[in-house]
Amino acid sequence: MSKLFIDGENVPATGGGTIPVYSPVTGEAYAEIARGQSQDVDAAVRAARAAVNGDWGKKTATERGRVLVQIGSKVLENIDELAEIEARDTGKPIALARKDIEALARYFEFYGGAADKVHGEVIPYLAGYTVSVVREPCGVVGHIIPWNYPAQMLGRTIAPALAMGNASVVKPAEDACMTSLRFAEIANEAGLPAGALNIVTGYGKEAGAALAEHPDINLITFTGSPGVGVAIQTAAAANHVKCVLELGGKCPQVVFEDADLDKAIPVIVGAIIQNAGQTCSAGSRVLVQRTVFDQVVARLAARFSEVRVGLPETSPDCGPIITKAQFGRVNQFIAECKQSGLPVIAEGFMDSDLPEDGYYVKPVVFGPVPRNHKLALEEVFGPVLAVLPFDDEDDAVALANGTDYGLVASIWSENGGRQQRLAKRLEGGQVFINCYGAGGGVELPFGGIRKSGHGREKGLLALDEFSITKTVVSHHG
Ligand code: NAI
Ligand code: MG
Repeated sequence: MSKLFIDGENVPATGGGTIPVYSPVTGEAYAEIARGQSQDVDAAVRAARAAVNGDWGKKTATERGRVLVQIGSKVLENIDELAEIEARDTGKPIALARKDIEALARYFEFYGGAADKVHGEVIPYLAGYTVSVVREPCGVVGHIIPWNYPAQMLGRTIAPALAMGNASVVKPAEDACMTSLRFAEIANEAGLPAGALNIVTGYGKEAGAALAEHPDINLITFTGSPGVGVAIQTAAAANHVKCVLELGGKCPQVVFEDADLDKAIPVIVGAIIQNAGQTCSAGSRVLVQRTVFDQVVARLAARFSEVRVGLPETSPDCGPIITKAQFGRVNQFIAECKQSGLPVIAEGFMDSDLPEDGYYVKPVVFGPVPRNHKLALEEVFGPVLAVLPFDDEDDAVALANGTDYGLVASIWSENGGRQQRLAKRLEGGQVFINCYGAGGGVELPFGGIRKSGHGREKGLLALDEFSITKTVVSHHG
């Protein structure tokens, strides 16, 4: 049975409880994790506070950076093992799991290199004064992360936090936390002092809520569902701390009549089937100019009917859905779409030898989808694509921006003026022109507006989120 990782040690949950871990591939329980609760969270927060006040907090920025770079190297040294753990835990294709572990390493390389380049500012002020603005760590950061990209999410949130000299307490998702636990050991072997990184596994309502509500947390970051995002923000408000929230999307891919379809179609299909559609930035709506609607639909159908669902080790386009609960949710959504009479443009296919109790869903494209249909507005978090027609640029913008979400959007057009006009008008944290997703993009600031959340992760901007400024005003005459 897996344990918690607190103050550099693997320890059991004080309550002694466990949670079964199911394989999405077979539906069978294959391990158990520790059911951490509030007393475990409390121990982890105390260890993190001690690290901030102790060895870890006393390190120079250069020394912290060196530790992070070392962690990145160790992750790459152990990539085979970590990718296998990640694929087993999530059911994702092994090649995708490998990319995720590479991204985990990249986060540590990137923020390791950045740690000692955070310079602060000097502000011209009154005669006889010198004013500097320095960036300091927030202190103890609580991180609640989801199951869809467990390794990437871990790197994305803790690497910038540690780079700035914070200490972290992570509550990974109960559905996929094996990589986090192994990673914590690797990080400590790479020189991260005890207490700088603590992992408390457990249920969201128990360990997650206890972490969000903990009075000695200085910052909380969360990626997951909008409903839990509200709970996190409420808990943060009660403790007067900042929170960074990333809560998913209904991301539009806008295809104009002048798009290069040879280039666009494979990327558009890839952007919804990657990770079986369980991606916050999945391109789940394809908006197509009416003049080329039939042509685009025909090409999407041809490509989509080749999408294969299979076992992770067979390099399929889609593996299974993460849990029985999510499997049920996605199937229910698809059934409702079919019952409501939405036309099916195309479906993928499943390998014939899939285990009966695994959580496999057949990918599907629906269209034309009416603008007020549930599928046009709500996140499915599965391999389900909605296609909607639009008339002109104004209509495309209204449609693209017309959901509660705002995370990522893409523009497919060969017209330079149109690309720039649309990039200005599409709402969200990232806009891609004739591409999508940009391969992980550790360097690229990322985050949402509205129901997609707020705050920015990735890139150098994350260092601002994970630190606070202090303005030092000196009067020397
Ligand atoms: P969730 O929001 O319940 O889970 C995400 C994390 O939050 C997990 O670590 C969970 O243990 C924790 N959590 C749950 N309840 C909590 C609480 N009351 N206090 C503190 N932490 C809590 O998401 P779930 O149920 O796994 O998936 C439901 C839907 O959420 C998905 O269908 C999808 O639409 C969305 N989602 C979005 C993600 C994204 O990348 N933005 C990732 C995962 C889910
Ligand atoms: Mg699992």
